[in-house]
Amino acid sequence: MNKIEFTDKNGTFRIHNPENYSGLYLPLAGETGLKSSITPNLGGDSKTDQNHFLLEPVSIENLHNNRNTRNFWCRIENKGSWSVCGSSAKQEAAKFTKDQDESILEAGFMWQKLTRISREYEMKAETTSFVTIDGTMEVMMTELTNTADQEQKITPVAVIPLYGRSADNIRDHRHVTSLLHRIETKTYGVEVCPVLSFDERGHQKNQTVYFVYGSTGEGEAPEKFYPTTEMFIGEGGSYLNPEAVRMDKDGVLAGTKLQGKEAAGGMRFAPVTLKPQETVTYLVLAGVSGEKQNIEKMTSAYRTKKQIEKAFEAVKKHWTDKVNVDFSTGDTNIDNYLKWICFQPVLRRIYGCSFLPYHDYGKGGRGWRDLWQDCLALLIMEPSVVRQMIVDNYGGVRMDGTNATIIGSRQGEFIADRNNITRVWMDHAFWPFVTTKLYLDQTGDLDILLEKVTYFKDLQTKRGTAHDNNWDHAYGNKQRTAGGNIYFGTILEHILLQNLCAFYDVGEHNEMRLHGADWNDALDMAWEKGESVAFTCAYAGNLKDIADCLKHMEEKTGISKIEMAEEMKCLLAEGTELYESPDRKQKLLDEYTSLCEHNVKGGMILVSTEQIRKNLVEKAEWLMQHIREKEWISAGDDMGWFNGYYDNHGNAVEYSKKDEVRMMLTGQVFAVMSKTAGEEQVKEICRSADKFLFDQKAGGYRLNTDFKEEKFDLGRMFGFAYGEKENGAVFSHMTVMYANALYQRGFIREGHKVLQTLLEAAMNFENSKMYPGLPEYFDNEGRGLYAYLTGAASWYMLTMITEVFGVKGDLGDLVIAPSLLPEQFDEKGSAGLKLEFARKKFEIIMHNPEKKDLRIEQIRRAVCDEKVVLEPEPEYGVRLRKSVIETLDPKKCHRIDVFFQE
Ligand code: G1P
Repeated sequence: MNKIEFTDKNGTFRIHNPENYSGLYLPLAGETGLKSSITPNLGGDSKTDQNHFLLEPVSIENLHNNRNTRNFWCRIENKGSWSVCGSSAKQEAAKFTKDQDESILEAGFMWQKLTRISREYEMKAETTSFVTIDGTMEVMMTELTNTADQEQKITPVAVIPLYGRSADNIRDHRHVTSLLHRIETKTYGVEVCPVLSFDERGHQKNQTVYFVYGSTGEGEAPEKFYPTTEMFIGEGGSYLNPEAVRMDKDGVLAGTKLQGKEAAGGMRFAPVTLKPQETVTYLVLAGVSGEKQNIEKMTSAYRTKKQIEKAFEAVKKHWTDKVNVDFSTGDTNIDNYLKWICFQPVLRRIYGCSFLPYHDYGKGGRGWRDLWQDCLALLIMEPSVVRQMIVDNYGGVRMDGTNATIIGSRQGEFIADRNNITRVWMDHAFWPFVTTKLYLDQTGDLDILLEKVTYFKDLQTKRGTAHDNNWDHAYGNKQRTAGGNIYFGTILEHILLQNLCAFYDVGEHNEMRLHGADWNDALDMAWEKGESVAFTCAYAGNLKDIADCLKHMEEKTGISKIEMAEEMKCLLAEGTELYESPDRKQKLLDEYTSLCEHNVKGGMILVSTEQIRKNLVEKAEWLMQHIREKEWISAGDDMGWFNGYYDNHGNAVEYSKKDEVRMMLTGQVFAVMSKTAGEEQVKEICRSADKFLFDQKAGGYRLNTDFKEEKFDLGRMFGFAYGEKENGAVFSHMTVMYANALYQRGFIREGHKVLQTLLEAAMNFENSKMYPGLPEYFDNEGRGLYAYLTGAASWYMLTMITEVFGVKGDLGDLVIAPSLLPEQFDEKGSAGLKLEFARKKFEIIMHNPEKKDLRIEQIRRAVCDEKVVLEPEPEYGVRLRKSVIETLDPKKCHRIDVFFQE
């Protein structure tokens, strides 16, 4: 049984012979710049973006087959050649036999250290890999030790093939683009600068240089170079059996120039004779730079072992410090897994959804909903950057309540759809308020609601149903008024507009139209008649929460009137007659979107917040009542759930028939979270989910039952094999949101089961075959796929903090209302959480010495720094006021002890 062993409390782990498992890779990246992936054989790739790949791009299927990657060879006199990462034909053949090298991989955030020990060659190698914090280069440090009883003479040969172009060229002009290469050997390495770049942007003069440099631990340069693949692997050779190593082939000297070949950063160092147990170190750097003249200077700071060791320590500290949340649950394995989960949102901010081997879709950037949900985790870990992020992101909203879907690389940069694809994801308008609400709770910064921001404008208009032919690039991507000025509206206006437009955008069953899809991207084939009851629930919840938020604003600021665009007046229409008529709703929406089809007038109206509040609550209640009446499916045996969708034939997707059950999780999650589902209904949903969706082997609650139909009137998901991805896998993101919803409703045991089974599935290495963290989903056999880049991580972290530990903000106050179960306390009955809140550091320790099943009203006492007594609260447990928090020393960590009734 192989397993992950943690060696500290910061997620550092160790694993033996990980190369015997498929699909394992770690991310290595800088804050900007290089984004790499690395396998236990040092496979994987590296790039700065879609058009700049340093190493040849790999997807999951060729992750292990492609050996055109990092390698370090030792030509050992009288013995042959050995690769420090197992990437030789001979070592490949010895895999799974008694002759296999012993290997141990140690890894942490953004680094790995591979130790390989060969009995046959009597050598040990430790290879450390990381990317510098500024992302300019990848560093590989190899320390070779002679484990033989006699001296051994070794010729070290390092190689990193240089792909040096756009991912598009992997099969589009692969050969032609190599003709563009201008290759040069320098004192310390190989550089390639393609003359032109060929990609979707056309043919452009290129300035980007890709390089591989190397030195000994003392800073000595390599002796000879193999700057092309041809030269390195030789005729008929391969990277697993390269001629340069096999034949001890002579290379070229520094100062050699070559053209029009596949480049390779191959280099041979001076032979060295190692005494028994003697160690020698080599360093290899690989990077991308826009400034050729700077490469020498950049690399000279990483030329000796001493320099690299210092840089490595800085990298470890940098990324460990990023995760400033610590859990003590009584199980250090769980605590360490949670560290990785908390690190995942940081990774998604860097990698988007495109740049790890499973994530080979898109060309960089993140989608709209991912952008907003990643902010949730950042609000906990890096709150100071989030305010501006929220403000900037609202600039992506269009006047019709939809939004830009191509997000630029700079914050607040939105790009008009290049292909004129009119796709509206109907859930998109739901997420911004969810994030904003958490922000308001954490900070109490209600002023943000009145901050004025622009709207996005492009060719798309009327919620993706028409083109605004009066718009052109000269108009720009910001909404203008009839007078030609750029229009600004408050964030509150953006929020209202997003959620109110959704309210009217209904199909024939009076549920919100599915459009291009909702959260489930693969429900994308019911454009005409599809409806998402799931997100109708979600929006209903939002409408209520927005009303609450307005109330707080009135109370805290005294503001009782707000301004909004005059066009929006009609959106505040009310009355059951209107609500009950899908036609009238659509008509009203059409009137509104016609008013802002091109420009807005620029006139404003003042509306009382009380009127808006009442209007929102009325609408929300109508929606919830409607769903309760029309969508509930009674399945007998105290089971039941909500139908979550209508397909393109206008038929309800979910049902319970005698011999067939169709149930989906998404609809239940939002019915529970929004409180559309009553208490009894939540119980029935739980029982049904346990019966029809729960599968321990597959990691917990599945996204749906097996429809056994290629349901092309709903979405491509039904084309996927059942149990994979959006078609019924245990899809972590929705599963975690299910847990969150259950905790919110006080269903603690049920919520805990959801979180626990998911985490256990990931932690069971022999089954999940993944490094620590949450995967996007588990397949039918329980393997975790799509590591690291999933919205599930943000939600898991948030749920642990705000629901399980119950530590949350309430308009800037800190409130504590834990929902911990007895098994979540350590042997002394303590459970702890360290985090930052309002720029102050806290360690919160819950004391439950008898490990009782707790209720928040059992909190007996809570004190901060052993002196400040927290105020008791019936709903929230205890409260530490914002005014008190402001007086606390920002440099110290403040301890809050929460004691429960004996
Ligand atoms: C991914 C996407 C997310 C989408 C989900 C379901 O989820 O990133 O936007 O809603 O698939 O289609 P993730 O991998 O983030 O959990």
